[in-house]
Amino acid sequence: MQNNNNREEWGTRLGLVLALAGNAIGLGNFLRFPVQAAENGGGAFMIPYFISLLLLGIPLMWVELTIGRYGGNRGHGSMPGMFYSMWNNRWSKYIGILGIFTPLIIVIYYTYVESWTLAFSFFSITGKYFGAESRETMGAFLKGFQGIESNEYFSGLTPAIIFYLITLAINVYILSKGVSKGIERLANIAMPLLLIMAFALMVRVLTFGSPDPAHPENNIANGLGFIWNPDFSQLTNATVWLAASGQIFFTLSLGMGAIATYASYMRKDDDVATTGIATAGANEFAEVVLGGTIAIPAAVAFFGLVGVQEIAKGGAFDLGFQSLPVIFQKIPFGQFFGFIWFLLLFFAALTSSVALTQPAMAFLQEEFRIPKERAAIIVGLVLFVCSLPVVLFLKHGFLDELDYWAGTFGPVLCAFLETIIFVYIFGMAKGWEEINRGATTRIPRVFFYIIKYITPLFLFAILSTWLYQSAGDVLLMKNIDPANKSYVWGARIMMAVVFIGLAYLVRKSWRMKKRIENEE
Ligand code: ALA
Repeated sequence: MQNNNNREEWGTRLGLVLALAGNAIGLGNFLRFPVQAAENGGGAFMIPYFISLLLLGIPLMWVELTIGRYGGNRGHGSMPGMFYSMWNNRWSKYIGILGIFTPLIIVIYYTYVESWTLAFSFFSITGKYFGAESRETMGAFLKGFQGIESNEYFSGLTPAIIFYLITLAINVYILSKGVSKGIERLANIAMPLLLIMAFALMVRVLTFGSPDPAHPENNIANGLGFIWNPDFSQLTNATVWLAASGQIFFTLSLGMGAIATYASYMRKDDDVATTGIATAGANEFAEVVLGGTIAIPAAVAFFGLVGVQEIAKGGAFDLGFQSLPVIFQKIPFGQFFGFIWFLLLFFAALTSSVALTQPAMAFLQEEFRIPKERAAIIVGLVLFVCSLPVVLFLKHGFLDELDYWAGTFGPVLCAFLETIIFVYIFGMAKGWEEINRGATTRIPRVFFYIIKYITPLFLFAILSTWLYQSAGDVLLMKNIDPANKSYVWGARIMMAVVFIGLAYLVRKSWRMKKRIENEE
């Protein structure tokens, strides 16, 4: 479908909500959330988490949807054009680069991790890792697959590269089909399937009881209690607040340009208020109810509370790729449950990775008039080239460096700048009218003040705490192993090249636009 700007539109309202839910629900819900919660004390994490959802997540979801719909109705599906349409100043479009750069950098490594989920669903159904029955042996299996070591399971990166190429090809294919025929169709199929698989796994996990009679305290009830028993003692701990707000950004895809780009395909009077709540609600259900009930309680039942906290320290993926496969080997029909766990992760990741790539697609299609098929191939090639060092230098922290800047820092910066533009340049009174235009139920007035004062202050507090506590050490690589420093430099240089490249393209696209406008 196309609107009068010659832009595509979502086919149906349900399709829009499912696509936005697919955009938000991803690896963040099922892998990152359990690890963040476990690492930051379970119940201690959940209070800042819900406060951040209320003061950052939901308000920013409305703001991004509104910016997206506003820009889209004026012919722009990526942030440089959206910001420019709200603030007629040449700096606005350069600030908007963040809304293409951040998701593009994330998707460079996100698609690679996505390909692991596809590979592991294959390894589950074929029973390839069966026999690696401890966390250590499963760790060796994962390291072998990632090319970190050569061992009895894998002697090189070939399988990882094959699964990566398949995953990239699937992404490029969906993107080349466009918004309603590609992304919306994918969401219509993948999201219901994901829900069914997650329910099946949740029911299975809840019936684990206490699997080890020698350790009756290792049980599902204690696993659930670990997340749900509130712990108020940590409310003054800045680290827990940063982790909780960071998780809200990541899981809702905020500050990444991806939500705004999807919103740009909405019609002028489509309801932002309800759509925002539906998206955030679906994501939180998938994260807290489904994500929280599967990985942590299962791991507590099999490894105990102390074990889980130790696993969480091992990194974002240990719980999903190392510990759960050990559990699958101990339960009846484990091959099947392993298969659906990893397939569920794959669907969750796929619906997010196409969302993270769409800002770059929209930019090429609209600002350069490149057809979507060709744009998909160009973006696919860029992703492939940039992902090579991620694949080859995984053990040297290349992926972690990209994740730090694009997955943790970038969204907060981008959200801060977009809130300032929305509230103080576009104007909150006008912004509030825009947010509520077409809404079946108006948003409670208290959010006017939250968006105007509390959200920007909260974001400012996060950025200043970061500047004060970590900026120096991070920039000077204080905590990086000396052997990895040159790789980390490599990652920074690559990001700088991508940023400068985008800045060049933004400049060029505006010049071209002006010329076309003058000719017309
Ligand atoms: N929001 C996406 C996720 O949770 C990026 O994985």
